Amino acid sequence: MSAELPFTVSGVTVRGKRLGTRLGFPTANLSYPPVEHLPPNGVYVALAQIDGQRYTAILNQGQHPTVPEGQPTIETHLLDFAGGELYGRRLTLTYLAYLRPEKRFATLEALKAQLAEDRAQARRWAEMPSAGMGMPPAHAPNQKGEPMNDMHPIAIPPIDTQDVSYHYEEDGRLAVNHVSLAISQGTFVAVLGHNGSGKSTLAKLMNALYLPSEGRVLVCGLDTAKEEHLWAVRRHAGMVFQNPDNQIVATVVREDVAFGLENLGVPQPEMLPRIQDALVAVRMTDFASAAPHMLSGGQKQRVAVAGVLAMQPDVMILDESTAMLDPSGREEVLGTVRKLNREKGITVVWITHFMEEAALADRVVVLHEGAIAMDGAPRAVFSQVDALKGLGLDVPPMAELAAMLGEGGLRLPAGILTVDDMVKELTACLSK
Ligand SMILES: Nc1ncnc2c1ncn2[C@@H]1O[C@H](COP(=O)(O)OP(=O)(O)OP(=O)(O)O)[C@@H](O)[C@H]1O
Ligand SMILES: [Mg+2]
Repeated sequence: MSAELPFTVSGVTVRGKRLGTRLGFPTANLSYPPVEHLPPNGVYVALAQIDGQRYTAILNQGQHPTVPEGQPTIETHLLDFAGGELYGRRLTLTYLAYLRPEKRFATLEALKAQLAEDRAQARRWAEMPSAGMGMPPAHAPNQKGEPMNDMHPIAIPPIDTQDVSYHYEEDGRLAVNHVSLAISQGTFVAVLGHNGSGKSTLAKLMNALYLPSEGRVLVCGLDTAKEEHLWAVRRHAGMVFQNPDNQIVATVVREDVAFGLENLGVPQPEMLPRIQDALVAVRMTDFASAAPHMLSGGQKQRVAVAGVLAMQPDVMILDESTAMLDPSGREEVLGTVRKLNREKGITVVWITHFMEEAALADRVVVLHEGAIAMDGAPRAVFSQVDALKGLGLDVPPMAELAAMLGEGGLRLPAGILTVDDMVKELTACLSK
């Protein structure tokens, strides 16, 4: 088990409480998801991100004296951590540097002296201009004080399908046809494609509901085909489906949100705050005791989103989760999920037939006959009006109007998607 630095691992859940002040600063125990290729045992400096806050962390990785052999639990010191409960919170850790091997100290004084040195080193790393940018500084010192020029960033994409194919029947047509799609953390990806193009099949491959016939799917670095990863994969990548009524299992909203946590065996004291946080995030706290069948479609979908959110996933996959809703319900659900993406950094795979929803994504992937036909920023994809039509897709009306004006001789810049874009470009064009 080894890794080059910097190295990012996301989806780390804090299992330990904040400890006392014996050492003069907070420490917390973290438990890791079973990601392969973690850096080996030792003391590392890392950047820790918790709900958008960034801290410098010193990680005692691996054989920490208080940790049972082989258990991927570590202790971390968060520099400048001002206090507050960490239990159950989620971290993204970017390992920046190896400081020293883990060791036992004969006296508390010796430990404190070592920690003071660790902290000074950690601060030097954190102050490097490139810290956290994914790239190490060119002349950053290694643990021997020598420059380390040969490091490469390794960030694990939450979703990484590698040449994946899937067929429903032996010798049948490929429903997903050699798809390689790496989605980086925090991205909101819209997946488009006409009926039967393979969107739902691909979605189900992304959380181990289906296993690839060929190729492999990694979810946060975990191979979905390995049976021992099944529950971790489902926890990392949560799915919301199309029909809100098929997803609700309990007779009270709060219990419905609890359902997934119960399946995971999350202990009761941890469950309650997680349910509450999830309901707050989807703005459904007022309905916690309501009967789900009394809710609107949009509200039901928000409850379904809360149920996934309570599992603290890295990725949410929503398969046409707005298809059965009225326009205001669609807006509610999309707005909620976009906010979770922006504020909590949750990666989103948003499957839709609505072009105006896809236009709001960071990245648009178009499937055709199970394969990726287009992949790019919304403006790049939607300016290819003829190609989209050839794939049986609609084009946002303003993109189409821009194309028609172009044919008529009025050339506007590429990438017009919205009425606002059109007004701006036309005004600029006419005032010339
Ligand atoms: N359970 C199944 N058994 C056999 N073939 C299936 C099954 N589900 C889907 N398929 C086939 O696999 C292909 C891809 O279907 P999929 O449902 O992934 O497409 P989709 O893009 O999600 O379509 P839609 O827009 O209608 O939801 C289609 O040809 C479909 O007929
Ligand atoms: Mg589908």
